[in-house]
Amino acid sequence: MKPINISANSSLISEEELFVYEDRLKTAHQRLHSGADDYLGWVNHPMEYDPKELERIIQTAKKIRSQCQVFIIIGIGGSYIGARAAIEMLNHSYYNLLDQNQRKGPQIFFAGNNLSGTYHKELVDMVKDKEICVCVISKSGTTTESNIAFSIFKKLLQDKYGEAASERIYVITDKEKGILREEVNQKGYTNFQVPEDIGGRYSVLTPVGLLPIAVSGIDVLEMMKGAAGAYSQFNHPDLRNPCYEYAVIRNILYNKGKIIEVFEVYEPKLQYFAEWLKQLFGESEGKEGKGIFPTYLQFSADLHSMGQFLQEGNQCFFETVLNVQSFESDIIVPEGSLDTFKGKKMSYINSKAMEGVLLAHMEDDIPNIRINIPELSPYYFGQMVYFFEKSCAISAYLLDVNPFNQPGVEKYKRNMRKLI
Ligand code: PA5
Repeated sequence: MKPINISANSSLISEEELFVYEDRLKTAHQRLHSGADDYLGWVNHPMEYDPKELERIIQTAKKIRSQCQVFIIIGIGGSYIGARAAIEMLNHSYYNLLDQNQRKGPQIFFAGNNLSGTYHKELVDMVKDKEICVCVISKSGTTTESNIAFSIFKKLLQDKYGEAASERIYVITDKEKGILREEVNQKGYTNFQVPEDIGGRYSVLTPVGLLPIAVSGIDVLEMMKGAAGAYSQFNHPDLRNPCYEYAVIRNILYNKGKIIEVFEVYEPKLQYFAEWLKQLFGESEGKEGKGIFPTYLQFSADLHSMGQFLQEGNQCFFETVLNVQSFESDIIVPEGSLDTFKGKKMSYINSKAMEGVLLAHMEDDIPNIRINIPELSPYYFGQMVYFFEKSCAISAYLLDVNPFNQPGVEKYKRNMRKLI
């Protein structure tokens, strides 16, 4: 399978500038592959994961599909966004609205990713009369949002099913620590472990992401094949490795004052993948007063709101476009549209929008990197996750920050508890 690759011709970075980083890049590569730091379990995970555990995930997902009409996924941050990114990218755009026989899995809703009483009350009211299963995902087991949402849905299940509620509760948490693990031990819920050496934002290809993703009917085996493909493709420690070239370009641009990275998507299904990127880069790099601020725009919608700023506003940013090269379903513009458009595929017009933006931005020297993704499939989701995880970790090493901690997040969590 063709790997994802990058087009960096419009990044405005010269070969000479890139090669200045050659030695530092090799050091960063060695550090990543030496296993010297904590939380490096994700690096070899695509090659070393336990196939028996993956099979148990697939079988559990099958059971959940037969048990319920509605599946509630409870989690936040790294225990949520990756799964949602895959579920939204790889399923029908209107998955939850399809008839049950047109979907491969139950309706899927997310809880515990905010503290809105309205959101949770309305969700409970909407699903309470249906057959429900719940999956709570929390590495620490103590996160406020997921803890509260779990208590709400546990009560709903207990009121509805009595003792049998525990057969509808699935837990993904630490192997030993935390109150969720204690509860699993007491109640015997079906459970999976969050690997100790993989942090939240790097955990989508572990049970954290794979169980919920598999429930929606996505082929997770194929996803792991994609990640393994990326492991081999993006493993050589030099600038010909697109994953590393991207990391280096980001750092050069940052040192030139481009302190914001705008991830741009032309396909709405990529919205949550862009959210995942935001967390991955934001939490990995934003520390010690350093880091590129990641944000994302969805085109063409945001061209009509932010296009002006990009073209003529404060040039403190660079653009990273997620360029999907082919689509499974498409529509031809019919009669009744302007002559220029009619008879053409919408995906073709969308690609011309992308080229038009690129040309306009080139005129004003706006640096642009394109990540080319052959298609949206489980295989390429696995590739994309591994590509970005690795480029993010290398990029953070080049910036001289620890990509795998998040002391700032812990601070807010502590304060909120105290105030409550
Ligand atoms: O990436 C991270 O570490 C965070 O986003 C966590 O995943 C998030 O805070 C949720 O934590 P937990 O899984 O412990 O509930």
